[in-house]
Amino acid sequence: MNKVSIIGAGMTGSTTAHWLAEREFTDVVLVDVVEGMPQGKGLDLLEALPIIGRDVSVVGTNDYGATKDSDIIIITAGIARKPGMSRDDLLKTNAEIVGNAATETLKYSPNAIFIILTNPLDTMAYLAMKKTGLPRERVIGQAGVLDSARMRAFVALETGVSVENINCYVMGGHGDEMVPLTRHSNVAGIPLREYVPADRLAAIVERTRKGGMEVINLLKTGSAYYAPAAACAQMAEAILKDKNLIVPCAVYMNGEYGLSDMYFGAPTQLGRGGMVRIVEYALDDDEKQMLDKSAAAVRETHDALKKLVAL
Ligand code: APR
Repeated sequence: MNKVSIIGAGMTGSTTAHWLAEREFTDVVLVDVVEGMPQGKGLDLLEALPIIGRDVSVVGTNDYGATKDSDIIIITAGIARKPGMSRDDLLKTNAEIVGNAATETLKYSPNAIFIILTNPLDTMAYLAMKKTGLPRERVIGQAGVLDSARMRAFVALETGVSVENINCYVMGGHGDEMVPLTRHSNVAGIPLREYVPADRLAAIVERTRKGGMEVINLLKTGSAYYAPAAACAQMAEAILKDKNLIVPCAVYMNGEYGLSDMYFGAPTQLGRGGMVRIVEYALDDDEKQMLDKSAAAVRETHDALKKLVAL
């Protein structure tokens, strides 16, 4: 059986465990610093498996040793910004947590592929790659699957068509400057720009860009977890089943889209080795402009990290 370890058993971590266990292609280990919590969540989930008829192992622990020989490590550990905390303070704290989680788990699972979810996600993926010294194929950030899923959900609401007929691709950093590619998106093969009136499409693009904040504002405490977790589970499945699925991921740019030495969201083919290749769309001038703006925002956070942490 495959083995996926999830570091951080909070909302996104434990929900990822749930989606994974339900799909029955991997055992799951949940790790957290809080004593008892991952054990409790792991046990609760394990006790659900007879009801849904899934035969996998689910273990919660405070011990990295239990992650030994994982095929995939998903890092969701981190803290949310607290009142009075600067962005740099948050960046530094989460960099320490993610850097430590990545290097510690790598000791036990030298062949693992890493999926990073902790925000600011593009920059945390960059940090994890630098700290572990792994090739870019094995450190991938989750953002684009979620952003694209949000756009697909909004298009489904607008059109009344099955989500399965709707293909949307969102590129760029995981922030307000993300780039929903309306020209490359479609409903059952019909270009989105032909299917949805321009003003409605503009509203969908805007709602997609602000999708995370919309959920935060409704929840009042905490941020989205069902969809981010489902996105992590889909990426893990694509990798472990060697599906060669193309989905937008945060990946290390090495000249693609004219960008280098940074993580950025781009359509990525996922297979057993992790990132198989980055798909390069031919972008028009408008799209290039949006992409450059998004890249500048991500670059800023990367630069802030480099000032705070030795890489
Ligand atoms: N090692 C392991 N777990 C840790 C560590 C650590 N060093 N530090 C904190 N954690 C755990 C916390 O105890 C908590 O259970 O990480 C978990 C984070 O869970 P939540 O606070 O519920 O946050 P969540 O909603 O899951 O989001 C986690 O993912 O999508 C991003 O922006 C989000 O950065 C955030 C991350």
